[in-house]
Amino acid sequence: MDLALTAASAPLRGSVAVPGDKSLAHRVALFAALALGETEVGNYPDSGVTRAMRRALEVLGVPSSLENGMLRLSGRKTLSPFQANGVVYCGNSGTTFRLLAGAIAATGTVATLDGSEGLRRRPMDRIAEPLRMMGANVSARDGWAPLVFQPAPLHGIDYTLPVASAQVLSCLQLAALGADGDSTFRVPGPVRDHTTRMLRAMGARIDEDGPVTRVHPLTMEDSLRPLRGTLPGDISSSAFLLVAAAIVPGSRITIENVDVNPTRTGILDVLAEMGASVSIGNRRETFGEPVGDITLEAAPLRGIDIGGDMVVRSIDEFPAIAVAAAFADGTTVVRDAEELRYKESDRIAAVVAQLRALGTDVNETPDGFSVRGGTVRGGIARANGDHRLAMSMALCGLRAPAPVTVEGAEILDESFPSFVPSLASLRQDAR
Ligand code: S3P
Repeated sequence: MDLALTAASAPLRGSVAVPGDKSLAHRVALFAALALGETEVGNYPDSGVTRAMRRALEVLGVPSSLENGMLRLSGRKTLSPFQANGVVYCGNSGTTFRLLAGAIAATGTVATLDGSEGLRRRPMDRIAEPLRMMGANVSARDGWAPLVFQPAPLHGIDYTLPVASAQVLSCLQLAALGADGDSTFRVPGPVRDHTTRMLRAMGARIDEDGPVTRVHPLTMEDSLRPLRGTLPGDISSSAFLLVAAAIVPGSRITIENVDVNPTRTGILDVLAEMGASVSIGNRRETFGEPVGDITLEAAPLRGIDIGGDMVVRSIDEFPAIAVAAAFADGTTVVRDAEELRYKESDRIAAVVAQLRALGTDVNETPDGFSVRGGTVRGGIARANGDHRLAMSMALCGLRAPAPVTVEGAEILDESFPSFVPSLASLRQDAR
């Protein structure tokens, strides 16, 4: 599918809600499968990546239903093995793969985890190696998917993660629930802490002290408690609408009911530093997560330097940030972001190539890129199988002097199927 947004002839205005947070959704479904009893969670997003987790759980013998946004799932005793009925295929979803790996190791399940060609190109040694250190019997083709698991007793470990990755930490935290002693994990950056918050809410004992997390194992008799509630909206999906409003002068939009966990709000700080006015109102809490309504008012944007902890706090938002940078005054420089090369695409190379295809003055570095604002012309960009790239490049069409078409944009169904109507609902020129 080609996607071409018409140029904005009026500011964006109004309020909108976005689908439930995908990181929470993955955890809700998997942790529900590890909790004895019935889970019922509303505003559950239905997209490619969340379907990947639900299908994988079904292969593991735990079906779920999703009707009108309500996920229903009947879980089992936490550490009892799953009965895999075939290869556990995770599609394009790295979070599904890595979190399931931890649960499979913890429960002594016999299973093969695999995924799409794209997923097979993403590094899995970052979970396979520490899982083996814990005693897991996991074999892999040189550190890439598929991973083959056989049951083995796990030991507690003290492990420092070489990369600041929530997927890796979550995988190891889950495995640690099935170990014979406590495990301590040290993280080199402020990764999203949804796993800790949710597992604690379900009764697990996890201590956190800054970058150090200690997980106390469960016994065979213990079980996590099921969850009930409503998922807050996804800040990663919100990011596209926020950037749309930030680049169209005079815009003022509110996105209601969004998860504003500080490990995820880097995009808000980046847009504020670039000059937009950003605030969070109506703060409350769901599933142990801070939630609020985000309001953004457009103002002239300026180029900034982004590096350090800000990278982890906005790790999924760089394609969108690059678009804000492309319409800012001056140059934006992103560094310390080599991790972007291991996402749904090599996001440094992909962002640079696609912005360049639209005429933008961009420069690639080993750990980031720079964008000279005000240089976008228009043309044809390619999604390259990356949902975030598709939506971000499409946004350029709102402000570029010539039309922008994104080829392969159907991939956005992986994460934000209602992107186009949500954006249209904020466009006064589309009414
Ligand atoms: C996620 C963690 C991040 C992020 C991904 C979702 C999660 O990956 O990029 O989209 O839900 O834990 P890393 O932790 O590997 O950086």
